[in-house]
Amino acid sequence: MADGFLGYKTSFMLDLVVCALVAVVPVLLYSIYIVKYKHRFALHKTLQLVLAAALVLTVLAFEVDLHLIQGGWENIVAKRDVPLTKEAFSFVRTLLTIHLIFAGSTPVLWGITIAYALKRFPSPPAPGDHSPLHKKLAWASTIDLTLTSVTGLIFYYFAFVA
Ligand code: HEM
Repeated sequence: MADGFLGYKTSFMLDLVVCALVAVVPVLLYSIYIVKYKHRFALHKTLQLVLAAALVLTVLAFEVDLHLIQGGWENIVAKRDVPLTKEAFSFVRTLLTIHLIFAGSTPVLWGITIAYALKRFPSPPAPGDHSPLHKKLAWASTIDLTLTSVTGLIFYYFAFVA
């Protein structure tokens, strides 16, 4: 099975999803910056919808590849030149469990934030009654996505690089 493009014994889709998770954070911060300090509400909305669509498509393709083609993350780890010790394997499994807590809750929170925003903000978007709830949901989504990205990178490092 072909390896990834970052130079480690991974898979193409795994490397792509890692890059997407890293790329999404600065775009997200930019989207928050322009809404908070520049009041560019329509651009913020567009960026958020494009980000969400890009992430959904990448993660779906990654899940199909991981489970149907690679046969699970253990098979990718098994490609390492230097195999993981039993202790390292169990450490990596714990890191993955932590990552999956954030990776699982992010799409739910993200989806709720977007669904409410689309329903309750006017179009074109502008501050209104929904603003206080949107800010709470949106900051929670932002933190969740950032932690998904950080914990995913930590897992990738210990499973495939270290
Ligand atoms: C999960 C997706 C989204 C995230 C993470 C997000 C993030 C944020 C954040 C953090 C703020 C507040 C900035 C501050 O503290 O002042 C904000 C404000 C805002 N967002 Fe979003 N947003 C999302 C989706 C959307 C969508 C889809 C729309 C439009 C339909 C939208 C419209 C707005 C508006 C109008 C404000 C200004 C609220 C105000 O200042 O009163 N957002 N967003």
